[in-house]
Amino acid sequence: MAGGFGAATGGTEFEARITPLVIISCIMAASGGLMFGYDVGISGGVTSMPEFLKEFFPTVYKNQQDPGLTGNYCKYDNQGLQLFTSSLYLAALLATFFASYTTKTLGRKMTMLIAGILFLAGTAFNAAALNLAMLIVGRLLLGCGVGFANQAIPLFLSEIAPTRIRGALNILFQLNITIGILVANLINYGTSKLTNGYGWRISLGLAGIPALLLTVGSLIVVDTPNSLISRGKLDEGKEILRRIRGVDNVDPEYLEIVEASRAAAEVKNPFQNLLKRRNRPSLVIAIVMQIFQQFTGINAIMFYAPVLFQTLGFKSDASLYSSVITGLVNVLSTLVSVAFVDKAGRRMLLIEAGVQMFLSQMGVAIVMGLKVKDHSNNLGHGLGILVLILVCSFVASFAWSWGPLGWLIPSETFAAEARSAGQSVVVSTNMLFTFVIAQAFLSMLCHMKFGIFFFFSAWVFVMTIFTIFFIPETKNTPIDEMNDRVWKKHWYWQRYMDDFEDGPKSKDQV
Ligand code: BGC
Repeated sequence: MAGGFGAATGGTEFEARITPLVIISCIMAASGGLMFGYDVGISGGVTSMPEFLKEFFPTVYKNQQDPGLTGNYCKYDNQGLQLFTSSLYLAALLATFFASYTTKTLGRKMTMLIAGILFLAGTAFNAAALNLAMLIVGRLLLGCGVGFANQAIPLFLSEIAPTRIRGALNILFQLNITIGILVANLINYGTSKLTNGYGWRISLGLAGIPALLLTVGSLIVVDTPNSLISRGKLDEGKEILRRIRGVDNVDPEYLEIVEASRAAAEVKNPFQNLLKRRNRPSLVIAIVMQIFQQFTGINAIMFYAPVLFQTLGFKSDASLYSSVITGLVNVLSTLVSVAFVDKAGRRMLLIEAGVQMFLSQMGVAIVMGLKVKDHSNNLGHGLGILVLILVCSFVASFAWSWGPLGWLIPSETFAAEARSAGQSVVVSTNMLFTFVIAQAFLSMLCHMKFGIFFFFSAWVFVMTIFTIFFIPETKNTPIDEMNDRVWKKHWYWQRYMDDFEDGPKSKDQV
């Protein structure tokens, strides 16, 4: 997933050049992130295409053509339609646990290859779908791909990157997700104009391009030194380390990886270890941040923007290009995060964005409440644009806060011994709540109407208060010094660090 976690190597700077192998691995990350983003962004546009609905969801098609049947808020309320979007995340959730096993036993490279193949198979099923079952099987395969890719790629990146660019690479992955979403929005905009009824097939089929890039990429790259060494391939690991770092003397880093692998191997049951008291602060932060990230309501927009804009009375075309605009805002605002995350810090971004997201969503709720009724829609041009601006303001603030930081912070706060298991909990929790939003949003919109945006703004309020009191600042802190420099100094979390000396020590203490 976006984010990823620092490898065994911590805050120490080792000798390293930025070599072609490191560049290739960035391109790999790009295709993995693009693939995930493409899957997120493509479903909303496809599900608003009349041809697609006519073929797979005839009831929704009827409601769409004649909103008088259901009212404005309920025309897309269909469990099957939501399952089309959500099934991917359910599969990803389950696949993460297998992926956690394969990343360890088969390595990062093989796990990425498995992801690429699953993506290709899923894309083929989707593009060729003749019935709903084929469509869902395709989405499930894509979801398995996401589970494998999002577990292995961030890990791969963190391990292969020289320490000084690890943070930037981390957010770069999120940036690729947002680019994937934007590309999907653009493609939907283009294919919706085709009159031959094949638009949705092309939209779903073009996912094959990032899928192929990932598959071929994972055949080309080497596995990470950390992965090789922890699987006992010491000489090969050292040789690869020399090649990726582009320097001869890699002994200090090599020894640190060997030591970290030894310490990690001592942890017999990684998931039980995660429950130890000293890991409680990072575990709680990791889980809560995933829930909060999804309950900002971002995916109501990412998955269903075209559908939502149609609910607001935008025409089909206007809905799709409005989604392109929000997609573009998403990409550009992620760059703001890249620029400020290590300067202004994580907390500053989260708190500022909390205020902005809260006000934007309250604004959307109020305008919709006043103007969009079940059977009448008085939004008009001016207010339509106002809603679009408010949605963009919401997306922008998400993109420089909870988007990247929801992944970055959990990935950098686990102690080395808990990092791998921690990451699978992070990915699976995120997928679980992404699934919940994907499956429930259209029904919630139907029942809660404009109130859904009050609901999300209440969550934003709670998460901002939580940030103020419980999320520590982690900027400029080496990942293996979090216990001493962050948790032990935090007004609340320090009480959980009392047993730290007793258990397996994080590698900086060994
Ligand atoms: C979230 C996704 C979301 C994306 C939007 C990611 O950080 O995990 O669920 O769709 O941001 O850019």
